[in-house]
This record gives sequence, structure tokens and C-alpha cells, in this order.
Amino acid sequence: MKLWVKIMIKSKLVFATGNQDKYKEVSKIFAGTNYELLKVTDVGEMFEIIEDGDTYEANAFIKAKAIFDKFGYPVIADDSGIEVEQLDNRPGIYAARYAGENCTYSDNNKKLLSELKELEKPHKAKFVCCALFYDGEKLIPAMGELKGQIVDEPRGNKGFGYDPVFMPDGYDITCAEMELEDKNKISHRGRAFNNLKNLLEQS
Ligand code: IMP
Repeated sequence: MKLWVKIMIKSKLVFATGNQDKYKEVSKIFAGTNYELLKVTDVGEMFEIIEDGDTYEANAFIKAKAIFDKFGYPVIADDSGIEVEQLDNRPGIYAARYAGENCTYSDNNKKLLSELKELEKPHKAKFVCCALFYDGEKLIPAMGELKGQIVDEPRGNKGFGYDPVFMPDGYDITCAEMELEDKNKISHRGRAFNNLKNLLEQS
């Protein structure tokens, strides 16, 4: 009797991030695919990358190219931010340093709430993420969004960044009041990387 064993050789793919939470979230999405998702620290040492692009895609590409050029593996990378309609889509790609250099998440949230204080509700907003694949030749970008609104006061202590002030459409809790797994199912990043996974499987 012949015994056929199916061997699946996985392609190595490095995720260009130093953020362990992002790595955990995205490795779940890539589990069961033809790709073995590696951390930067699996192939070398993480180093500082200056993200000075003017779009999410440009910044994600800067990260992907820096890691590809240094280590030579195919890479996935992402960049995200938050856009508030009444603020002409600010802070957008500048979300991390909205309240200034070296500011905290809490500084950013305070600044956002004070800018919206006098404006009429609802304060419509969305999280946006660009995820992309780069292997030195092929560049595959994919977008993901999560729509919602900014609430009056920070609520909840899970998650990070703008999660305490962001309430997704269809929910009456903020992202910081959700279990991480629930947030990941609807998040802009989850959507962008699921789209990217599908595009990679078709390519
Ligand atoms: P990054 O450059 O993709 O790491 O994200 C830039 C900034 O966007 C972060 O520092 C956060 O302030 C904000 N941000 C991105 N994703 C999220 C999220 O899922 N929740 C809350 N804030 C986020």
C-alpha cells in the first residue's frame, strides 16, 4: 500500500514591525496559508525606520523596503491612522504624533476631544490601514477601514492609541471596551491584512 504524504513547503515572510500586538494579530490571519510569518527579530535586529511618506501606502512601503533591503526576505508591512470628518480628515497619517513629538496616547486623545468639544455630534471618524507585500519586484497593497465616531470621554482600558475614544458603527462600546479578539475581527488592520492575504493567494 502506498502512503502519500502531502508536504507543504511554506515561504518565509517577514512582518516589518516591532509591535508584538500587531504581530500576534496578523500571524493569526496568515496561519493556514502557504506563508510562515517571521518577526524581524527572527532574521536580525530591528532598527529605526523614518516614516516620512505622505500616504499610508508610502509609509508602509518605506518600512517594507527598509526590511527587504537589509535582510532580503519577502516582507509585509502596514501603516495606519485615524481620520475625523469634522477635522478635514486629520490627524490621518500623523495620528501617532498628533499632540507633538514624544506625546502619549492620552495626550493625543485629549487634544482630539478638545478640538471636537464645540462641534456638533456625531463626530464621524474612521480608522484606516494600508497593508502591503513587497519582495523586491512585486508590490501588492491592500486597504482596510473601520468606520465609527469619536465619543465625549475616553472609555475602557483595553487596546491602545485612539481606542478609548473611538466607537465603531453598530456598537455602543468603544474599541478600548472590547475584547482584543472582537476588535481584531472588525479592525481596519484585520480587514487590510485579510484583503492582502486573498490577493497573495490569487497572485
Ligand atoms: P502605526 O503607524 O500603524 O503603528 O499607527 C499610527 C497611529 O495610529 C498609532 O500610534 C495610533 O495612535 C493610531 N492607531 C492605529 N491603529 C490603531 C488602533 O487599532 N487603535 C487605536 N489607535 C490606532
